[in-house]
Amino acid sequence: MNDQAQRLRDLINKSRAERGETVAPTKQNLVSSPASNLKEEKLTFVPPVQKREDFGDARIITVTSGKGGVGKTNMTVNLSIALQSLGKRVSVIDADLGLANVDLALGMVSRYNLLHYIKQDMPAEQITMTGPLGLQVISGGSGLLDLVNLNDNEIVKLVNLLSILNKSSDYIFVDTGAGLNKSVLSFIEATKEVILVVTPDPTSITDAYAVIKNVNPVDKDIKIIVNMADSMKESSDVFNKLQIVADKFLGAKLTHLGSVPNDVNVRNGIRAQEPFYLKFPNTAASKNIREIANTLAQIEQKVGKTNSFKGFLKRLFS
Ligand SMILES: Nc1ncnc2c1ncn2[C@@H]1O[C@H](COP(=O)(O)OP(=O)(O)O)[C@@H](O)[C@H]1O
Ligand SMILES: [Mg+2]
Repeated sequence: MNDQAQRLRDLINKSRAERGETVAPTKQNLVSSPASNLKEEKLTFVPPVQKREDFGDARIITVTSGKGGVGKTNMTVNLSIALQSLGKRVSVIDADLGLANVDLALGMVSRYNLLHYIKQDMPAEQITMTGPLGLQVISGGSGLLDLVNLNDNEIVKLVNLLSILNKSSDYIFVDTGAGLNKSVLSFIEATKEVILVVTPDPTSITDAYAVIKNVNPVDKDIKIIVNMADSMKESSDVFNKLQIVADKFLGAKLTHLGSVPNDVNVRNGIRAQEPFYLKFPNTAASKNIREIANTLAQIEQKVGKTNSFKGFLKRLFS
């Protein structure tokens, strides 16, 4: 554990050094600094790291589900745009390998992804697309979830990119595939705040429960969006069912973040390759997305951004 923590600190320092930032003096970087090879060794003064200067303050929220095809991508994209229109700065990382389609939902085409940045030194700007209202979108490729296959240098680059995003965003949404995939599960483990999208379909509910069971839910903030319910009553029934079993068997307290009804304009938006929130601002789904965005922003005002980026990195690499 200590070794891992030290490795992470080294990686983060390396990443900051590459960005031209001051690196905190640690035993290791003092020992390995060229000055230490001199006989009459004088330790150069390195200014101490200022508090909070190294990482910004984004809320990193993983969006997942038990089962695929429940509306994660469309919820993420439209919620992001709703938050942008509240003046928040939002980034979306598309991390669904099977069906990476954040860009399609936005009517954009991404030519490059995270792997071009990590493996081929492509600049961050080149893999970042700017969507409606300034929304930032990055296609994940397999880079974000497949950490075991990255070497130290590549991890430094990933940390670099995440910290750039962290500084320039209020929210970073990571749109994953279905949550029962092993690498998705380990990514969810790293994030404190999770949005779990569920539909009234019984298998969607049981699979959502399986995700909760697999991610150590007690210290997590799991927010449920019930999508495609036919009525508010059905939506709260779905939430209650899940909450009762999650509480009883796992001690997990879930939050009902909101519901989005079955709305033909969601599909019309997809067909037109335009987010429904922009194309049909007054349709039922848009009204509910607006409510969810407001709720998220209010939570932020009340409790602050409980997500620490450093904590996220620590969990991601341990
Ligand atoms: N609220 C909704 N009302 C109607 N159809 C929806 C709604 N949400 C999602 N859909 C349908 O579900 C499909 C899958 O949505 P998508 O966001 O791609 O799911 P996921 O990312 O979970 O795989 C969409 O193509 C759309 O047809
Ligand atoms: Mg999707």
